[in-house]
Amino acid sequence: MMVFSGSCSIELSQKIAKHLDCDISPIEISVFPDKERRIKLKENVLEKDTIIIQSTGQSPDENYMELFLIIDALKRSGAKSVKALIPYLGYQRQDHIFRDGEAVSSEVIAEILEKVGMNELFSFDFHTPKILEMFSVPVHHLSALPVFSQKIKKDFDTNEIVLVSPDMGGIRRIKQISAMLGNIPFAAIIKNRDLNTGNINNSGLDGSVRGKIAIMVDDMISTGTTMVEACDLLLENGALKVYAFSTHAILAKDASDILQKSKIEKVIVSDTLEIPKEKEFAKLEILSVAEIAAKALS
Ligand code: R5P
Repeated sequence: MMVFSGSCSIELSQKIAKHLDCDISPIEISVFPDKERRIKLKENVLEKDTIIIQSTGQSPDENYMELFLIIDALKRSGAKSVKALIPYLGYQRQDHIFRDGEAVSSEVIAEILEKVGMNELFSFDFHTPKILEMFSVPVHHLSALPVFSQKIKKDFDTNEIVLVSPDMGGIRRIKQISAMLGNIPFAAIIKNRDLNTGNINNSGLDGSVRGKIAIMVDDMISTGTTMVEACDLLLENGALKVYAFSTHAILAKDASDILQKSKIEKVIVSDTLEIPKEKEFAKLEILSVAEIAAKALS
């Protein structure tokens, strides 16, 4: 088995390779002045089972293009199989037509990945289980929730906490982590997003957080607005303190700044996305999913 890394997931790939007890096979990735990329594998992959690890992060177009070209290079060079670990699968939020005239981005991504030659997909915490239906190759849907539940068990008294989904769409995820923690209580925020402006309006809370430490769990933090506004609502509803857990830390725009200045005690994320030094902030803690990924890939 040979493991390759795209340029968006170098640190996570190294951790996974360590768990798998192998090295990362080198790829020459050159970027032309007009930003086009050229890929050249530096080792023979003929008849080899291969794994490519590449998240999509804050530059989804560039990272996807690089991934498509690496898969193509592996296939053209005779690899027996190509497994893609895309820790954060970008473009998945557009999983259906919300307004007339829109594209279904997640389906387009699935089609291209299969067309270029991906044989199996591994990824973490999809926005909705609907993503599984978009692929005809096997999909291994992994989750950071076991890592989060261990952290919660270690740091909190489960009698003092309530889990919270910052929107109704995340209720399935909250039920899963509640079960991992012995069926502890949960609540959900009724969040409405204006599809034209992207603005959020939290119209209420389903469940009670009064007198409890509220632990929000979500799939992704992009601008941070969802978490910050949810935190304010939870405090208004009597939560003692609020913590935020999220698998994918996209941290777009000034998310780091608004999260640091918010009333959230701590923001705990996984390493499905590499966080640049300038995006780190004091309240941020990063937990690794490398072991989960390595187990699934081996
Ligand atoms: C939305 O349904 C997702 O689960 C996240 O809550 C959302 O994408 C987070 O976005 P932002 O951080 O920009 O509010």
